[in-house]
Amino acid sequence: MVGGGQVAHRRVAGLLESRARVTVVSPEVTPALEALVAPGSLTWVRRGYRSGDLDGAWYAVAATDDPAVNAAVAEEAERLRVFCARADDRSASSVWTPAVGRQGDLVVGVHGGGDPQRAVGVRDAVVAGLSDGSIRDRASREPSGGRAGSVVLVGGGPGDPGLITVRGQQAVAQADVVLADHLAPQSLLASLPPEVEVIDASKLPRGRSMAQEQINALLVQHALAGKRVVRLKGGDPFVFGRGMEELEACVAAGVPVEVVPGVTSAIAVPALAGIPVTHRGLTHEFVVVSGHVPPGHPQSLVDWAALGRLRGTVVVLMGVDTAGAIAAALVEHGRAPETPVAVVADGSTATQRAVRTTLAGLARTLSDEGIRPPAVWVVGEVVGLAAEGQTPRS
Ligand SMILES: C[S@@+](CC[C@H](N)C(=O)[O-])C[C@H]1O[C@@H](n2cnc3c(N)ncnc32)[C@H](O)[C@@H]1O
Repeated sequence: MVGGGQVAHRRVAGLLESRARVTVVSPEVTPALEALVAPGSLTWVRRGYRSGDLDGAWYAVAATDDPAVNAAVAEEAERLRVFCARADDRSASSVWTPAVGRQGDLVVGVHGGGDPQRAVGVRDAVVAGLSDGSIRDRASREPSGGRAGSVVLVGGGPGDPGLITVRGQQAVAQADVVLADHLAPQSLLASLPPEVEVIDASKLPRGRSMAQEQINALLVQHALAGKRVVRLKGGDPFVFGRGMEELEACVAAGVPVEVVPGVTSAIAVPALAGIPVTHRGLTHEFVVVSGHVPPGHPQSLVDWAALGRLRGTVVVLMGVDTAGAIAAALVEHGRAPETPVAVVADGSTATQRAVRTTLAGLARTLSDEGIRPPAVWVVGEVVGLAAEGQTPRS
């Protein structure tokens, strides 16, 4: 890589991803390139290009802002029969770099007939199509023909289909069977082809719910039948999501299992209402608590007294019914009754709403406003920060 600016930075990222051993020749490099030197990810020759620098190279990129230097690099490359991409002159390059996209082990490379933006546009469209299933990778969807099935535990984020991860969306697009929670992004299910079996594994608060043992058994049973099974869950699978129990069941049955972390509602739902869980100079900690059982309950594992003494942010999940008891415990153990609280319900969905109150007023506000689960509530000074001019959903 001759040159150390923005072009070099972008090209180096792709080369390192392909496991190339990269040498950058340039008197200066960008901070991001410099950060790769100390860990040994690349070698930096800290000077201008000299003839002979391409000795032993397989591939060269001429990416300086001096056309004469780039031409000299291209000439040397030609002489040594090394492929050379000239960043400033496509017609003088012996190789053109395609726009590359990856979907699992599938690699898509697109040349745009000399128009890089066109190549990127087509690449993005193909990768998006493969991700959302609108372009079928038929080989990858072939019945597994004796291959072992598998389970992917996918964190679907708080509900908006745009907040699932790319890997999560890919796994869903490739699934034969999807076991979905009611808090997972439901609209992703609508885009699945009819042959994909969707199993409703919802657990409604105080309502109907599929037993965890049955969910575990279904995951294992379908995987052992050779299916690609996705367990699509709300938020992150390992944040009050019983993901570990599902993982353990798969491991015990010898089923290959992958965990795809998700955007947890504990952080994302406050953020969508304009509330950061930390803020420099204000809060150096945040604690995420399950409120599914109140303080004093024999099954409660929470040190409520310690939480009451905390100065930072407390985020409570599954705590609509228990809010009054929890707020009272926090105040009893030292938190000021006037501490700001925000309650955010149906985060990231069309019906998202946020209400603000205080610890002392929380129980009353929830009942006056008719707040129902799913809701997250946040205690702490960060609640007062919601920035002017930002556009939270409510
Ligand atoms: C069983 S926990 C699962 C949490 C999930 N694993 C996560 O990381 O977000 C369910 C609780 O998450 C919170 N929750 C999940 N999705 C939400 C949303 N879209 N809006 C508000 N709260 C949500 C609520 O407190 C709900 O009672």
